[in-house]
Amino acid sequence: MIVAEHLVKEFRLAERKPGLLGSLSTLLTRRYRVVRAVDDISFEIPAGTKTAYIGANGAGKSTTIKMLTGIMTPTSGRCTVAGLEPYRHRQRNARTIGVVFGQRSQLWWDLSVPDSFRILRRVYDIPEPVYRRNLVLFRELLDIDALGSTPVRQLSLGQRMRAEIAASLLHDPAVLFWDEPTIGLDMVLKDAVRHLVNRAHRELGTTVVLTSHDIADIAAICDSALVVDHGRVVHQGTLQDLLRTADHRSVVFDHRD
Ligand SMILES: Nc1ncnc2c1ncn2[C@@H]1O[C@H](COP(=O)(O)OP(=O)(O)OP(=O)(O)O)[C@@H](O)[C@H]1O
Ligand SMILES: [Mg+2]
Repeated sequence: MIVAEHLVKEFRLAERKPGLLGSLSTLLTRRYRVVRAVDDISFEIPAGTKTAYIGANGAGKSTTIKMLTGIMTPTSGRCTVAGLEPYRHRQRNARTIGVVFGQRSQLWWDLSVPDSFRILRRVYDIPEPVYRRNLVLFRELLDIDALGSTPVRQLSLGQRMRAEIAASLLHDPAVLFWDEPTIGLDMVLKDAVRHLVNRAHRELGTTVVLTSHDIADIAAICDSALVVDHGRVVHQGTLQDLLRTADHRSVVFDHRD
């Protein structure tokens, strides 16, 4: 269902020299450094699985998800979601996927949450019963009504995340890409979010790709794991296998005054 074949993403960064003279010389002679954020990644994620995409800060998780959601085009290699290359078919792909980037809003900054939902309903052409059913769920579990008519830019992080999560689920997408969806959420809401995604998986067979630095999120949601390190896949298998091998490792903190 989700396939990556030798996926590579490189960023070209201008090298800056310190100081005023340095800035001038940077302007005159631009030098570039290439960062390989995703370095030849291949994987297959079967439909109906819930995969944790795990890795340290800067490992390349968000960059991979940006290519899978069509926001970025790979430098080389390719990926497909339900048979489509997302960056070539952004609109068609948008109907298939639901996206949360915890670090970057997907909502309209100046609109209220109810207005955003009304627009999304038109954009996705969501049937009335589906829209109603989902709104009832979001009211109950995410207390979406409490967000009122406040523009998204004035919401707190936790309030915005509730709206982002609801927006990603509104059209019953076949695939959810959730990149740090629980940042800023308290324990009760984290629980509600886990319940929502597990429910979508159980009742609609939704495929889930999740990144989180909270192992409790991963354990409560995922059955499979894909571990990435410095842009390369270092483990793919069941979450149980990963936890079993991780059991043998320990971290020793050596503290000196
Ligand atoms: N737009 C960009 N321009 C330049 N470099 C970038 C860009 N986006 C990401 N990078 C670099 O690519 C690497 C991977 O970043 P990415 O955001 O994919 O990591 P991540 O695994 O999502 O990390 P985190 O857990 O902190 O969210 C990092 O070294 C980052 O600095
Ligand atoms: Mg990230």
